[in-house]
Parts: sequence; C-alpha cells; structure tokens
Amino acid sequence: MKRTVKNNVSWIGRIDWELKTFHGDDYSINHGSSQNAYLIEEEKTVLIDTIWKPYEKEFRDNLEKEIDLSKIDFIVMNHGEVDHSGALPYLMEKIPQTPIYCTANAVKSLVGQYHHPEWNFKVVKTGDSVDIGNNKKLVFVEMRMLHWPDSMATYLTGDNILFSNDAFGQHYGVEELFNDKADQCLLAEEAMKYYANILTPFSVLVKRKIEEIVKLNLPIDIIAPSHGAIWRDNPLQIVEKYAAWSDAYQEDQITIIYDTMWDGTKKLAHALATEIQALSPDTVVKVFNISQTDKNDIMTQVFKSKAIALGSPTVGKSILSSVAGWIHFLSELQFKSKKAAVFGSYGWSGEGNAVLREELTKAGFSVVESEVKVNWTPTEEHLSEMQTIARELV
Ligand code: FEO
Repeated sequence: MKRTVKNNVSWIGRIDWELKTFHGDDYSINHGSSQNAYLIEEEKTVLIDTIWKPYEKEFRDNLEKEIDLSKIDFIVMNHGEVDHSGALPYLMEKIPQTPIYCTANAVKSLVGQYHHPEWNFKVVKTGDSVDIGNNKKLVFVEMRMLHWPDSMATYLTGDNILFSNDAFGQHYGVEELFNDKADQCLLAEEAMKYYANILTPFSVLVKRKIEEIVKLNLPIDIIAPSHGAIWRDNPLQIVEKYAAWSDAYQEDQITIIYDTMWDGTKKLAHALATEIQALSPDTVVKVFNISQTDKNDIMTQVFKSKAIALGSPTVGKSILSSVAGWIHFLSELQFKSKKAAVFGSYGWSGEGNAVLREELTKAGFSVVESEVKVNWTPTEEHLSEMQTIARELV
C-alpha cells in the first residue's frame, strides 16, 4: 500500500524485517532494511525506482491496486542495481512502451542485466529536467560513483524532495518511514555503517558531489533515499554528516582487531587496550576478535578510528586466513590518514608481523615502527611491551 511522503508523493516500497545479509552475504543487516520506491501523481504520474526481484509480483500488485499501470507516464531509474531494478522487467511486461529516464551508464547496466535494449530509454545528465505539471518538474543530478557509475539523484521542485537513491540511505528498517520516528542511535549507527562499508572508497567523489549540491542552493525539505529512513526532520543533517565522513573522518578512537589460536595473540590485544587506556583515558578503545565479530561492524569501528592495531599468530609462514580475508576487505575500502600497528605470537618461524605490516601498508595505513612479536606464550614483560605500541598510536 502506498503511504504519503508529502502532498502527491507516496512511498511504495518494501520494508524487510527478515533480511540478514545484502550484496550476497557481504553486508550484514542487523535491524531490518527497506527498498524505497516512490510514486508521484501530478499531471504526470511518475514512478521512481522499483524494488528487488524476489518481490516483483508483490510490487506490481501493490502498484496496480493504487493506480492503473497504463497511467504511469514514465519511470525514473536512479540506479540499475538489482535491489532497485529487479522488479522492473516484470512491471515492463505490462507497460512495455513506458519511457525510462536514467543515465547513459544505467542503460548499460539495465540492458546488461535484463537484455531489453528495445525499452524506451531517455538518457539524462546533470541539469536535465522534465515537467510533470502543476508547475513542478524533476531535475536530474548524476551521482557518479555514489556508489555505481550509473547512480543518479532526482530532485522534485515545488515539494523540494531529493530522491537520492543509495546516497544518504541506511540498511535499517523504520516501519514509520521517517527519520524523526526512528531510534536515533541506531539510525546514526546504520547510516555510518552504510557509508563506511559502501561509500568510503569514493570519498573524494562524495566530497566533490556534496560541494556541488550545496552550491546549487536548492531548497531541500525531504531527502528520500532508496533504503531506510526518509529524512524529513532536518534533512540536511545527513548531508553534513557525509561532508564530514568524506573528509578522512576519524574520532579519538583506537580499535584493536585480532584472531588467535591458543590465546597468545589475544592476551597481547587486551594488554594493548589496557596500556592505551592508561596513557590516554579519553580515547575510546575497542577490541574485536575477527572470528567472533561481524566484519562490517568492525569496519564501521575502523572508520571511526584514528588508528588500529592488528594481531595474528603466525601460521603456515603467514597469518590466519580470517585475518587475511579481513585485510583484503580493508584494502578495498582505501581508508585515509589512519595509523596502524601490528602484533602477534608464534611458535616456530614468526613471519606473521611482517605479513601484517606489508598488507596494512598496501591498504594505505601508516604502520608505526614499534611492534610486539612473542615467541610462545606472552610473559608479563611481553605484555608491558605493548606500551611502546600504545605510545605511538596515542
Ligand atoms: Fe546500489 Fe541499493 O543499490
């Protein structure tokens, strides 16, 4: 059922309380999520985005209950990824001639995925607009790499709504739809997790795009993303957050991440936490065992940190596979201006620290010189050596 967003603009999406992972299993969902599609009913009737393929029937049926599908004058596809376009082919079976407004790159992604080059695509770029009657128009803004090359936002004049697609969204279910109805702590956490895990590699472009949007000086009453809460209470708060997050964001936090075989490396991790706390009581210190904690949630903590420390025992002349896989993900995100330190225990050959150092350097971290490498089980003396790392990180 459609639900009013403002005047003749409705939400016609799907809130998914059972979703546990996204992007395959690459992104964890802790508090539900949603795919938000929108319907504008002015002189022209416009559908903005669709929802995920598994729910194509539900989506089309819901839409059909609200309007005669043949009354849809055109569809705006802000982004071609499956969670927003998956229900499009099923809908187009009923209205195959309907124009689809999207970027040139979105034509590539939609045709590549659904193999319908005959669809009536209308390619748009930044600044293009289309009248929808009642003195209102839709203005298109390309959002290249926020987060795909085909991404775009659509601005509705008169109602001052920015349909931002993935940008400014969260994988967070809010039954009441709006940000002022959400749990504010969870909303802030999920918005940051979304940025940290998906948008961090594109921060330079995010920064530039935010500056461009601010310069347009458009009145914005509502930011309506394609996932999670719709920002109607102080909508620019999330734009301000993005401006800060895209600028090598960090807080006074140090995050210690490790995995362990027989608790030697674990002891070092906790000794380091104690030393940092003693040296700098105001610094937030968090400790995570990679094998016991969700990788996306750890990454959100890395995003907030000014420094990290990473520990692994040596195994097979290298590091534990859990740590190796996590570093691979870390390197994809290309964090900037963060320090790192390495530590670990070993029984025989002891290559672990060198591997950690090399991989963290490749991932863009500035690895401090001090490290602790312990043969067999750490003694009290080894544990106090963690103070040297703590000093450099603090
Ligand atoms: Fe990039 Fe929500 O899809």
